[in-house]
Order: sequence, then C-alpha cells, then structure tokens
Amino acid sequence: MSKLWGGRFTKKTDQLVEEYTASILFDKELAEEDIQGSLAHVTMLGKCGILPAADVKTIQDGLKQVLERIRRGEAEFSVSDEDIHMNIEKQLIDLVGPVGGKLHTGRSRNDQVATDMHLYLRRRVVEFVGLLTSLQEALLEQAKNNIDTIIPGYTHLQRAQPILFAHHLMAYVSMFQRDIERLQDSYKRINALPLGAGALAGTTFPIDRHFVAAELGFDRVYENSLDAVSDRDFIVEFLSGAALIMTHLSRFCEELVLWSSTEFAFVELDDAFCTGSSIMPQKKNPDVAELVRGKTGRVYGNLIGLLTVLKSLPLAYNKDMQEDKEGMFDTVKTLQGALQLFAPMVATMKVNRGRMRQAVNNDFSNATDIADYLVGKGLPFRQAHEVIGKTVLYCIQNDKYLLDLKLDEFLQFSELFDEHIYEVLQPENVVNARNVYGGTAAPQVKDAIARAEASNEQA
Ligand code: ARG
Repeated sequence: MSKLWGGRFTKKTDQLVEEYTASILFDKELAEEDIQGSLAHVTMLGKCGILPAADVKTIQDGLKQVLERIRRGEAEFSVSDEDIHMNIEKQLIDLVGPVGGKLHTGRSRNDQVATDMHLYLRRRVVEFVGLLTSLQEALLEQAKNNIDTIIPGYTHLQRAQPILFAHHLMAYVSMFQRDIERLQDSYKRINALPLGAGALAGTTFPIDRHFVAAELGFDRVYENSLDAVSDRDFIVEFLSGAALIMTHLSRFCEELVLWSSTEFAFVELDDAFCTGSSIMPQKKNPDVAELVRGKTGRVYGNLIGLLTVLKSLPLAYNKDMQEDKEGMFDTVKTLQGALQLFAPMVATMKVNRGRMRQAVNNDFSNATDIADYLVGKGLPFRQAHEVIGKTVLYCIQNDKYLLDLKLDEFLQFSELFDEHIYEVLQPENVVNARNVYGGTAAPQVKDAIARAEASNEQA
C-alpha cells in the first residue's frame, strides 16, 4: 500500500522506522474528534467555493460512514498509515474514491492534530468538572450528616484543636472548588481553533477560519499560525490541573487510610470499596484510597514528561510533539478512574462518631482555650501559654486530662482560674468559640455548606 506522502520517496520505509514513528496505536483515541474536525473543514471548503458542493457531499457522507465503521469497531487501523489522520483519510479514499483526496485541501496534519487535541480536551474538561462536582456533593452530604461530630484537628499529625468533622470535609470541598475553577479557566485557552494555520504559515486557499470555529463551537481562532500548530500549553495546563487534583485526592486518601486503621477507627469504608488479603482472613484493605494515592505519581510524571518534551523545541511543529498524547490519555484515564470511585466511596463511608468523641475527650486539644481564657482575665498570652504548658505537664505526669482536674489543682498554676473553665473546656464550646468567617463553629460551617450548595446549584 502506498503512502499518502509517498510521491517524493523512491524507497520503502524501513519496517522498524514505520513502527517507531507511527502513533496510530494510541491516537486512534482521537477518531471521533478527527472526523468532527474534518466535517467542519470540508463544509467550509464548500462554503468558500474551494470544493464543489457534490464533492463536499460525497466526502461528508464518506466521513460519516467511516465514523460509523469505527464506532462499530469494524475499522482496521494500520501502522503503515502512521496516524489516525492518515488512517481515516485512507479509509475515506478507499470508500469514495479519489475525490476523498480533496479533503486535505488547505490543511496540514499539523493544524489538524492540534484541532483534534483541542476538541478532545474540551470534552474532558467538561466531564471532569461534572465528576468533581459529584464528589463535592458526596462531601457536602457527609458534612451535613456530621454537623455536630467533633474530631481532633491536627497539625504535625499531633492533636491540635478540636474541629467539626464537617469542617474538615468542607476543606476538601474548597480544594475541589479551586480545581473546578482551574479547569474552567483553562477552557478559555482550550476553546480556540488552530485549524487554518496549515503546516505553519497559513494556506493559499481562501478559507474561512471563523466559520470553522463557529461550526466546531470554538470561541476564537488562534492569532498566529506558527503558535497555532506548536502550542501545547493547553495540554500542559490540563496536566497540571490534573496533577493538583491528584494531590488533593492523595491527601484525602492518606487521611482515609489513617482514619480506617484500627488505631484511628474514625471511619469505616464500605466493603464494596475495599479488598481482602489472600492470606490474612481478617484483613479489609483500603485499596482504592491507596491506589489513587499511588497513581498520583504517573499523573505528575505525565506533566513533567510533556514539559520536558516541549522544552527547547524550535517553532513550529516537530515530531517530538507526537509525544504529547500518551501521557494525556493516561492522565484522562487515571483521573476518570479516581474521580468515578471517589464520590461513592465518600458517600458510603461510615463515620464512627463514638470513636471520634472518645478521641476528643482524651486529649489536650482544648489547651489553647484555657490559655485564651486566662488572657481574657488579663494575663498576657505568653504567660498564659506558660501556665497552661505547666498544667498540661502536670496532667501528663498524673495521667489526667484537663477536664479531670479539680479547681484546687488548677489554682496551683494560676489564681485566675474559676469554675467557668469547666465550661470553656467542653469540646462543643471550644469548637463554637471559633465563630469567625471560615472557622469551625457550627453556625460558620452551616453557612459554608449553604454557600457551597448554592454555588453548585448555580453552576
Ligand atoms: N501523528 C502526528 C502527531 O501526533 C500528527 C502530525 C504529524 N505531522 C507531521 N508533519 N508529521 O503529532
């Protein structure tokens, strides 16, 4: 079978070169987008009088048939046709005859592949915004069900101050909100049309790029033809947005793994989201959380991989850029897998409120509040800190918690203490004392939930 670009060549391509340079084994993923772009292109060729209406019709019908065949899984792709663009063009020509060869008028694979990638990522970004929103909804549900569940809040993974479990979950809602906004922002740059840039310099045919942009739903066309065919920033942006999503998911995963350990036992993940051990009958492992945490590595790798491919590339298109695809497809798949599982895993997670309460009752996470209490009595904060430090040390040495101390014992450390401290030290009061915008007090968390729900409804 002859090559679409065979005219200038006198020798057959080396078999290994053919395999090495081909991208069809992975870029067949772009078949739908490639045909979508070609349909818009050929429609424009007709509208601009570059191709006669009859040819346009033949090519359009042919492309649709090729698409149907691909969808039915009947299309055969061949490595000797190198990539999805030439495979499809070849199939079109086989189907409709030489007139199919008119499709590529005024176009290059360079602006074609860039267009395919824009179409492909545009769809994914919309899909990921939807998946992130579902995950937020699962978190919001759990937050609403746990509006009075208190857990120790941690810094350095040491108990710090008690917080509402709902407040903790809402932190993730905020992180995923930023992820959504990042994706939405990147959409502006994804939604631009490269087609019409030709190989690098534009085309001699009187094409109408704005018509193609409108046909494909792009907001604008690339300003500069060199930039249009050599820009892969939009993929880097997607990969970096994906890397941050995975960062957030992996932090959550780490907490789920910890929380579901016997040591914490704060939550129990549903059986449907865990797996067992082939040797230890008692085991129930949080594999999904671990694997999402682990797969974060490949998503980072794909980002660094593409940045490195693009670094130092001269303008405009270079074959190196074919390396933009596998990492992108892999990231899309990895992110889909993680997000699809995460929302139901969170939704079905059982919260062990008794255990959380027990943890809060048996710690010193209310220590800041009696320091603040002494400050309220006029003691400078530094001195109050010192007094409470000593009080805590006394407790540790005597195997007690602050609420176990008698007033007499408190008074050994400062004369400013009185009966009110027992109220101040109650975890509910400690939590509700932090009644600042964005703080953990129940009214603030309820407001935060309401705001998040309202913004999700709007979107
Ligand atoms: N398969 C190629 C890629 O993905 C398509 C563009 C090829 N262009 C070229 N001039 N060889 O980058």
